[in-house]
Amino acid sequence: MSNDADFDRVDAERAASDAILVGASTVRNDNPRLLVRSALRRRERVDRGLEPSPIKVTVTSSGNLDADAAFFTAGKAQKLVYCASEAAASLGPRLARRATVVDAGPSVALQRVCQDLSDRGVQRLMVEGGGTIHTQFLTADLADELQLVVAPLFVGDSGARRFVGDGDFPWNARRRAPLAEVRQIGDVVLLRYALSSRFGTD
Ligand SMILES: NC(=O)c1ccc[n+]([C@@H]2O[C@H](COP(=O)([O-])OP(=O)(O)OC[C@H]3O[C@@H](n4cnc5c(N)ncnc54)[C@H](OP(=O)(O)O)[C@@H]3O)[C@@H](O)[C@H]2O)c1
Repeated sequence: MSNDADFDRVDAERAASDAILVGASTVRNDNPRLLVRSALRRRERVDRGLEPSPIKVTVTSSGNLDADAAFFTAGKAQKLVYCASEAAASLGPRLARRATVVDAGPSVALQRVCQDLSDRGVQRLMVEGGGTIHTQFLTADLADELQLVVAPLFVGDSGARRFVGDGDFPWNARRRAPLAEVRQIGDVVLLRYALSSRFGTD
């Protein structure tokens, strides 16, 4: 739905992040590599003493993740899987050399995931979806910034995926999210919302 210039902007966001998080369904359905695409940006990261691409992070209750998914096989950066206890015991050995499986307790609370990532040195986490993950980050008030891109097209399918699902959002009719920037990128528009006092800090 986006355009090349915006994909490149997203690549720059990836390169500026310490870690990228997606839900397990996105790993299963899209098989994303989640690497920085630009060779120049990868080199700049290496010059700063970093891996060419950020740490990859996912969360799962079921533990239903394929060790051969591109999430695990592409790139040398660390891969972290936060898994509910019930599945963690079997998932750990299955992903053994490809990822670190963190037993996140009976259910995975994203607040605790963020705390653990912070303890591991992650200061800037980029959350790339899908909707189940976006809903939890936003309803739990964990996001510092929201980037929304509006594309000039209609999907025309009431069953199509939504950005977020049902939930009690801290940003609602009584408390509107502060709009920090509007930027035209070719035929799409980027809207940046400041969701916490940490917006704009590195
Ligand atoms: N266009 C884009 O750029 C883009 C980006 C991202 C995603 N997407 C689309 O979004 C779709 C997936 O979205 P989605 O909302 O269905 O799924 P999702 O958010 O990618 O992943 C949901 C899954 O993540 C795990 N999960 C999420 N929260 C959890 C928690 N608190 N504790 C434990 N596990 C948790 C569960 O995995 P288990 O089922 O393993 O327990 C859950 O089923 C993809 O098919 C993709 O096409 C598009």
